[in-house]
Amino acid sequence: MSSIAIVGAGPGLGAAVARRFGREGYDVALVARDRTRLDALAGGLAGEGITARGFAADVRRPEELAGVLEEAAGVLGPFEVLQYSPVPHRDFMRPVLETGHRDLVGPVEFSVYGPVAAVRQVLPGMRRLGHGTILFVNGGTAAVPHPERAGTSIAFAAESAYAHLLHERLADEGIHVAQLVIPGAIVAGHPRKDPAVLAESLWGMHRNRHGFRHYADDLDS
Ligand SMILES: NC(=O)c1ccc[n+]([C@@H]2O[C@H](COP(=O)([O-])OP(=O)(O)OC[C@H]3O[C@@H](n4cnc5c(N)ncnc54)[C@H](OP(=O)(O)O)[C@@H]3O)[C@@H](O)[C@H]2O)c1
Repeated sequence: MSSIAIVGAGPGLGAAVARRFGREGYDVALVARDRTRLDALAGGLAGEGITARGFAADVRRPEELAGVLEEAAGVLGPFEVLQYSPVPHRDFMRPVLETGHRDLVGPVEFSVYGPVAAVRQVLPGMRRLGHGTILFVNGGTAAVPHPERAGTSIAFAAESAYAHLLHERLADEGIHVAQLVIPGAIVAGHPRKDPAVLAESLWGMHRNRHGFRHYADDLDS
């Protein structure tokens, strides 16, 4: 049985990706901070015939995140797929001239330390499987920094560099690393940015294994 870990799993994109992979027979580990919401999400998915379990962790606590991913792999088996997609805090999106070095601690913990901890935890299992997929999901500032959203712009740039390095380094091992950039907002009913449409894109990225960066929509949208 294959399994996917969705780090930052909420009712929007996280739930849609759980459904998309679940429909293909994947077991799903849902990671976020709020245990009650995780249990409700897992319960809803179970009602649709998907095996999903919630694991509570804050991605800004790397040891905690690594610990729950280890626990989750113990329950569901080694992860074939990791998706890193927690929704960034509003405080990370401050104007550049109002952003001091301390304001960057949160964004860097969230977008750099978290992904590094998650990848290092699941990678040995993927290597044992002999294949895997690591999916990073980011907003448009990962591609074009925005002066009013300095924290995410700066931290997403670092996250993107890390992800791209992994893409280069792991391709020969059958581990595909890719990034989906979603310009603007996720909008229910939008032809390109509805959560189910984005989940389909992420499923396609996992299946087709071409290229590193993919765009959900035009950058100026
Ligand atoms: N929403 C948008 O308009 C939009 C636009 C562009 C890109 N994106 C990207 O899409 C992804 C999110 O999709 P979504 O907005 O539909 O979200 P979602 O899957 O509905 O929920 C994401 C979850 O992330 C969790 N989270 C936030 N901070 C966390 C932390 N410190 N540790 C662990 N979990 C945390 C939250 O749960 P807890 O509060 O329980 O922790 C939240 O429910 C992200 O990669 C984001 O960059 C979103």
